[in-house]
Amino acid sequence: MPNGIRATLGKSFPLMRILFIGDIVGRPGRQLVKTGLQALISRHDIDLVIANAENAAAGFGITREIGDELLDLGVDVMTSGNHIWDKREALDYIGAESRLLRPANYPAGAPGNGSYLARTRQGLSVGVVNVMGRVFMLQIDDPFAVVQREIDALRQRARIVFVDFHAEATSEKIAMGWHLDGKVTAVVGTHTHVQTADERILPKGTAYLTDVGMTGPHDSIIGVEIEPALNRFLTALPSRFETASGNPRLNAVVVDADETTGLATDIERLSYSHDELADLAEDERPVRSSV
Ligand SMILES: [Fe+2]
Ligand SMILES: [Fe+2]
Repeated sequence: MPNGIRATLGKSFPLMRILFIGDIVGRPGRQLVKTGLQALISRHDIDLVIANAENAAAGFGITREIGDELLDLGVDVMTSGNHIWDKREALDYIGAESRLLRPANYPAGAPGNGSYLARTRQGLSVGVVNVMGRVFMLQIDDPFAVVQREIDALRQRARIVFVDFHAEATSEKIAMGWHLDGKVTAVVGTHTHVQTADERILPKGTAYLTDVGMTGPHDSIIGVEIEPALNRFLTALPSRFETASGNPRLNAVVVDADETTGLATDIERLSYSHDELADLAEDERPVRSSV
């Protein structure tokens, strides 16, 4: 099975290529990033890496140690979602690490920020915005209004703007895609941990994908061990969830953008097993060691 849903086109100036990695879940997710990220950057000629890290610490939240590890591995910006506060230390970490975002539509008083102005290795600016949906989720501020405000604030400084919309309902995510069509480079969804097959460039030039999927154990129920999660459905009794380990896969998307317009020119969905990433890392090794 191919890892990308379509062949990668050759890159030509002035194209920028952004890799977005779907929710990294626990140690299996981090291991996938460790094994494959540098090879993916090399293979796909990536300029900037964004990853959703809300489940990076044992499936629930993020710690300073784990956030720093992901940044060291080559992630440039970390987005999040409803699990951002699961580990208490995130309340402090997010104030000290501007490359970690929480949804911008958390009410006033929440620590941290919902957007970040990143710079690529070539010194080009990319705005990254993280917002969260409200359908079947926490009733926080209006993401449709807040995202517009965040984009307006970034617009003076970045033509390329990438939005992670962390939401449960497909309808709300698609609505956000149409809301922002022509206004940003890309709108991708996170949170469901299941990659959707609806990647497209919307008519006014915004790349869209309802959910990027999960970078973690796929023999699981959205990242946790099957038996306790299944038992909760079978019996409605409380059970303790642990991160699963089987069949780790990295789910991601690559968006190409025209730097002059800020609009997308291509979107490619990726799904790699751990072994495929290890092979890729082996293939890319001579290239990496020569730079
Ligand atoms: Fe998640
Ligand atoms: Fe989530």
